[in-house]
Formats: sequence, structure tokens, C-alpha cells
Amino acid sequence: MSRGNFSNKLGFIMAAAGSAVGLGNIWKFPYEVGIGGGAAFLLMYLAFCFILCFPVMVAEISIGRKTQRNAVGAFRALGFAKWSIIGKMGVASGVLILSFYNVVAGWAFGYFIEMLFGNFDISNHFGEYIGLEGTHAIKVVGYTIIFMISTSMIVSKGISGGIEKAARTLMPLLVIIIVSLILYSLTLPNAMKGIEFYLVPDFSKINFEVVYTALSHAFFSLSLGMGALITYGSYVSKQDNILSSAALITLADVGIAFIAGLMIFPFVFSQNIDPQEGPGLVFVALPKVFASLGAFWGQAIGSLFFLLLSFAALTSTVSLLEVPVSYVVDEHKMNRTKAVWLTSLVIFIIGIPSLLSQGASNFFTSFIWYGGADKAKDFLTLVEDIGINTFLPLGGLLTSIFTAYVWKTKNLSEEIAQGNSKYNGSLLMKLIDTAIVYICPVVLSGLFILIVLSKFFGIHIV
Ligand code: TRP
Repeated sequence: MSRGNFSNKLGFIMAAAGSAVGLGNIWKFPYEVGIGGGAAFLLMYLAFCFILCFPVMVAEISIGRKTQRNAVGAFRALGFAKWSIIGKMGVASGVLILSFYNVVAGWAFGYFIEMLFGNFDISNHFGEYIGLEGTHAIKVVGYTIIFMISTSMIVSKGISGGIEKAARTLMPLLVIIIVSLILYSLTLPNAMKGIEFYLVPDFSKINFEVVYTALSHAFFSLSLGMGALITYGSYVSKQDNILSSAALITLADVGIAFIAGLMIFPFVFSQNIDPQEGPGLVFVALPKVFASLGAFWGQAIGSLFFLLLSFAALTSTVSLLEVPVSYVVDEHKMNRTKAVWLTSLVIFIIGIPSLLSQGASNFFTSFIWYGGADKAKDFLTLVEDIGINTFLPLGGLLTSIFTAYVWKTKNLSEEIAQGNSKYNGSLLMKLIDTAIVYICPVVLSGLFILIVLSKFFGIHIV
């Protein structure tokens, strides 16, 4: 049975960039920059993307293409069955991350509808909206379901038909609308204060929390550390150049996060919103901007923006679902359609507590207390802490250790050299080998230990 393939190199790049670009760039990144003190966070994030994540990305794609298997089977196919634990952890993180990602994507889709009908006032009721108060409940739950079903439909169509097509057309449109909004934002009073906050670093604001948030965000944003790119890599042709593909995916992701920040902070400062607002930042700041454009333009641009954000989220949820699905299809020989609907159902059910954890249910809203926090954390935050902040850096760390000390860089280089004949012996090869053998294992293991101690045990060593 054919597993399916991307139709060409561009198709792979668009799908992988589509996976990378999502809520992470436009919703999560700006609010983390806001909390992390602006430019200092931005710099840490950029450094992590290029120094630690890029080599891991190259390793993931190479492992996938070499073996043509899913995230679990790939390690077995290389002859190291024990290491397939990395893939199993990846499948688990995919399920966890998607369970809440889908909820936030539901909010974004809901805002598309609200903007379409000119309900800009929703920005003053974000808390009630996500708290499922009154009639919001039926809408938000409905949108979450619609979103999960759309993801499942795309994934069940397979590789080039579904995943690739969805990514190709929509991303350029998203860039155009963000750039137009940046130009508009710069005309507003106090815009420059926002730009200054975003681009002029104040290093006194860096503490360990900023460092590890930037680290796990770099992995999350590039869709790394859970085998998504092993899975996508398994559909890539042997003639493709892995390095240039990885470079383009990284640049697209970082570039879109960067311009999303350029768009948000002038708006935030011109409306006197606190940049530390948190997860509501984009949902509170943007509708106010759209309102200021007047009814017609506000509705048109506002709804288009949230529609494109929903599509960006969709090309990401597709990759999150593809990891468990390809595992079930390859390893348990289930047919694709059945695997998709079964996995989606499980993920949706696991996501219900997250859906209820933003105020709807007291139990899930004040769910658990750990890490010396001053108040109990909600269920969604717990899932984020496990799925994103713990599993992704750990997955990246183990992938680099596996590549360096088990599979060996010689084999990595051999795989990269297929499709890039000048690679062997090049300076680039030396840099990537150094990163994989020394920099990633050392830096990631150090940071990982510090993350776990501080996040879950409230022990702050630095
Ligand atoms: N990168 C996506 C975003 O920024 C989220 C995502 C999609 C993801 N697939 C992933 C994160 C795989 C980790 C692993 O929104």
C-alpha cells in the first residue's frame, strides 16, 4: 500500500510551514513577548530557533525521510526499537497539544463570525466568551466541534490532496493582511511606544522564566520535538534538499511571528492595553482596532483576519493530528479514515476539560496547584505545561542525543547529502554536527532540568 507523498519540494515546504505557522505565531507569541518584557524575549526566541531548533529540525526531517515511517516506526526501522519511546512521547504530546489547541482555534473561528456581524464589543467580553457564559456556550462548543471535524476531514484525505492544498493558498494571503495592518497601526498615536517595547531590549527583564518560555515556544512554534517533522519528512522525496527546506520553513515561521508582533504592539500601546494581558491579548486588542475602522471596513478586515487565523490554525492542527494518525495507520494497520475519526474523537474528549477550564467549571478552572504558584492552575494550563513546556524540549533533547550518539552524525550527513551533493565535508556540515553532538544535548539537558524543577517543584536555581 502506498503511503502517499508530497507532490514536490514546494508542497512539502508549504505544508511544513503551514504546520509551523499557526496560533503559536499570532496568538501565543505576542502575549508571551508581552509577559516576557518585549524585545528581550524576542531575542531569546530568535537565538533558540536558529541555534538549537534548526539542527533538531534537520535531524527530524532526515530521520523521517530515511525511514519513510511514522514517528514511532522510524526509530524501529533504524534498528533502535527502544528509542521509539521518543516517538511514543511525540504521539502523546500531539494528542495533548491538539486537545487544547482545538479549543483556542474554536475561539479564533468564533471571532471570525463575531467580526462578520460587526460585534466588535466582544473584545470587552472575552472572559465571558471563553467562560462559556449564557449563549456563548453553545457557540464556542459548536465552533470547537466544527474545527475538529474540519481537521479530520483534511487529514483523512491524505497527504498531497488535503494537507498540502490547504497550506498553499492561504499563507500568502495572511501575510498580506498582517502587513496592511502593520502599516495602519503605525499611523496611530503611541504606536512608536509599542515598537520600542517590541524592538529595544531591556535585559534586566530576562529571568529564567523568560528563558524557558522562549525555549519551549521556539519548539512549539516550529512544530518540533514530537515527531511531526519525522512524519512529514517521511513523505519527502529523496531528491529534495533537506537543508534548504528546513531553512525556508524556519524563516517563514520566525518571519510571521515577527510581523505579528510588529502588528500587535502598536495597537496594544495605542489603546493603553497592558502588554502583560496574557492569552487574551490578541482577542482583546484587535477587535477594538477593527471597530475603529468603521462598520464596513472593520467587518471586512476583521472577519478576514480571524478567518485567515483560523486557516493558519487548521494547517497546524492537521499536522498535530497526522502524528497519531500515521502511527495508528502504520503500526496498527488501521485504515486511514477509521484511524482519523477514532483519534479525533479521543482527542476531542480529552479536550473537554480544557474547554471547561476557562471559567465554565470551577473544578477545571481551579484544577491543580503546583510549582509554588500563588493560585491553582486551570486544566488547560496544566496540559500546556506538560505537552508544550515539558514534552517538546525533552523530545528535542532526546532527538539530538539519539542522532548524535545512537544513529550517528555520519548517517545523518549521508541522508542530507542525498539531494545536496556538496554537503559532505562542508562547513555547514561541521556546524550542524557540532550543534547536534555538543550544543543541543548540553544546553537542552541543562535547561530541561531547570524547567522541571522550577515549573513543577517551584525550585528556582537561577
Ligand atoms: N507550530 C504550530 C503553531 O505555532 C503548532 C503545532 C502544529 C505544533 N504542529 C505541531 C507544535 C507539532 C508542536 C509540534 O501554532
